[in-house]
Amino acid sequence: MVFAANGEWGLGPTFVADRCSHCHLRGGRGAPPEFDDEQLLSMVVRVSVDGSDEFGGPKPHPHYGVQLQNRALQGQSFEYDYTGSPVPHEADLYLSWTETTVVLADGESVNLRAPQARIDKLAFGPLGDRSMTSLRIAPPVFGLGLLEAVEEETVLAIAQWQKSIGYSGRPNYVRDDISKRTRLGRFGWKANQPSLRQQVAAAAIADMGVTSDVYIEQNCPPIQTVCQMQIPGGTRELIDVDWDQFEFWLRGLGVPARRNVADAQFVRGERLFNQAHCAVCHVPELTTAQAFQEFPTLANQTIRPYTDLLLHDMGEALADGRPDFKAGPRDWRTAPLWGLGLSKAVNGSTSLLHDG
Ligand code: HEC
Ligand code: HEC
Repeated sequence: MVFAANGEWGLGPTFVADRCSHCHLRGGRGAPPEFDDEQLLSMVVRVSVDGSDEFGGPKPHPHYGVQLQNRALQGQSFEYDYTGSPVPHEADLYLSWTETTVVLADGESVNLRAPQARIDKLAFGPLGDRSMTSLRIAPPVFGLGLLEAVEEETVLAIAQWQKSIGYSGRPNYVRDDISKRTRLGRFGWKANQPSLRQQVAAAAIADMGVTSDVYIEQNCPPIQTVCQMQIPGGTRELIDVDWDQFEFWLRGLGVPARRNVADAQFVRGERLFNQAHCAVCHVPELTTAQAFQEFPTLANQTIRPYTDLLLHDMGEALADGRPDFKAGPRDWRTAPLWGLGLSKAVNGSTSLLHDG
């Protein structure tokens, strides 16, 4: 499966990357650009305006939709016979960093850096005062079938237990565009996607400009007339057989085994992790549903994802200021920690948190 440049597999008209693996390199996490003048590739900038859509989700920006597309087709295509002019991309996207020094309790001082998206050359006017943006890096994509197979009741029981000890994890409830219902959100940094199947179609349209049965319109708001003329929406570019295979692959992609579990250093680390209450949110052990028809081998498994799939208020320093269904402006889903120690070996990136 290749989303080659210039329109094969329905790429564009506008997009951020031309294949899943540019962002989820080897199934691992994305990386921020190395240089100031390097455009974002494995990171996206969500955008929306005040209020919410009819299902309680983010309200698309009238000129830019729900995500800024920093790349676009250059006027040729393998699959589509057109000789249009190049499509304008929506903006140039870069990162800037601010550093702060934090003094720890024992007097040691450390430098922390935080990224901000730098949005240049907006092609269709300023974003305006009522708009909100959210910078997000590509998370790793293994073990997700197991997280999909965890029962909603299990997640809700953790929320109840947390409440009883003074923590306040909350589930996100989001629109399932496939079943047209409200469902528990599980995937994405704010748990804003209910299923891997929908996550695939949402990534296809938002990150690559690939339409599907569920998101049939191209990503071209009315003001983007060249975009609209190039490749009309209304035709399905992600065909079912590929969609099925994406879903199957994501569901099956396994988790690396824990390593060095008997090491003294590991044992001490695990004890500290529990003592410091990290394990309240990063729940070390879950059991998947007794039955999971969609992928039976994922049923009834003991897993060690180190997540509760719940949202937590992570404070002002991590806030993006942009709500996403029930997730507030400071809320994030507890990131699963399994496989974290191998991040560097997978693709070199050790960039953490929603914004890397
Ligand atoms: C431009 C970069 C980019 C491309 C291309 C991209 N993704 Fe992603 N992906 C992301 C980002 C960023 C997120 C987090 C989104 C959020 O938090 O809302 C994400 C989230 C996901 C998740 C959820 C992971 C989790 O732990 O919750 C899955 C699964 C996924 N992508 C699969 C895919 C597939 C399959 C494709 C190709 C069809 C794809 N992505 C293409 C950047 C990308
Ligand atoms: C109140 C719940 C909560 C507690 C307690 C908590 N975390 Fe987290 N953790 C989160 C959330 C939510 C995120 C995601 C934040 C984001 O994306 O910005 C996160 C992210 C992380 C990440 C980054 C993972 C990644 O893939 O980027 C690491 C590492 C981590 N936590 C370790 C810890 C450790 C170690 C402790 C204890 C000292 C701890 N956490 C305590 C909720 C919690």
